[in-house]
Amino acid sequence: MYNILEAPFLREVCGAAANLYRLGWDERNGGNISVRLDRELAGRYLSGAVRSRTELGFDVSPLAGELFLVTGSGKYFKNVADCPQNNLGILRIGEDGHTLELLWGFEDGGRPTSELPTHLLNHMERMAVDPEQRVVVHSHPTNTVAMTFVHPLEERTFTRTLWRMSTECIVVFPEGIGVLPWMVCGNLEIGQATAAKIRETRAVIWAAHGVFGVGKDLDEAFGLIETVEKAAEIYMKIGEHAILQSITDQELSSLCAAFGITPRAGYLEFV
Ligand code: 13P
Ligand code: ZN
Repeated sequence: MYNILEAPFLREVCGAAANLYRLGWDERNGGNISVRLDRELAGRYLSGAVRSRTELGFDVSPLAGELFLVTGSGKYFKNVADCPQNNLGILRIGEDGHTLELLWGFEDGGRPTSELPTHLLNHMERMAVDPEQRVVVHSHPTNTVAMTFVHPLEERTFTRTLWRMSTECIVVFPEGIGVLPWMVCGNLEIGQATAAKIRETRAVIWAAHGVFGVGKDLDEAFGLIETVEKAAEIYMKIGEHAILQSITDQELSSLCAAFGITPRAGYLEFV
């Protein structure tokens, strides 16, 4: 059996947590990460013994037997790399589709992130769209959150503003951005509401809270969040200034044509 502390999937999560902390997007215990592991690869690092079983309280049968590396609830991202065995855990979804089996980690008695319902339901939705999608990241990027106080939350309007803030946005998220109004977090209800959106948009913003981004790997999910946050930062920076010019719908349309991208139908004025 290989040393799990050297496993590439574990090192990548440690790196992402450290970066998110340094960016100032995941203060204190803010943010959480889950990675659906390649079962064969993960098996080389695990004894297979189940340390504990808990009832999930909802059904995720399509994920039965899947392994997830997840951050712990109340754990600080700044500490993940120094002590992965306390701050991270590897869980398997039981064959019944609603039991959590702890295979590794949370050694100081921790438990998975409180946003586990949203993570698991997002994995379920994205797996159905694309089996290669393995990563869900939740973060509290400052400008993205700030924008939800001063910009209408209607998704088309919100998406169009982001698209116009930075040229690469429409290329990175041509399907647009999902936005949820403020809700109580850490429960199944917000998980279901997020998952219903993540089917169509790979990033979903929670007003006055943060964002969820998904991707095939950490680079993709993190990169999506970075792109949203960069556009939100530009929006917040120019907020007080008179805007003299911006990217027009005609220009966004030519950009899509140049990159072979189809923007969300009806989002551009004349497409
Ligand atoms: P956890 O510490 O339970 O992961 O919660 C952090 C968070 O961002 C809640 O939305
Ligand atoms: Zn949060």
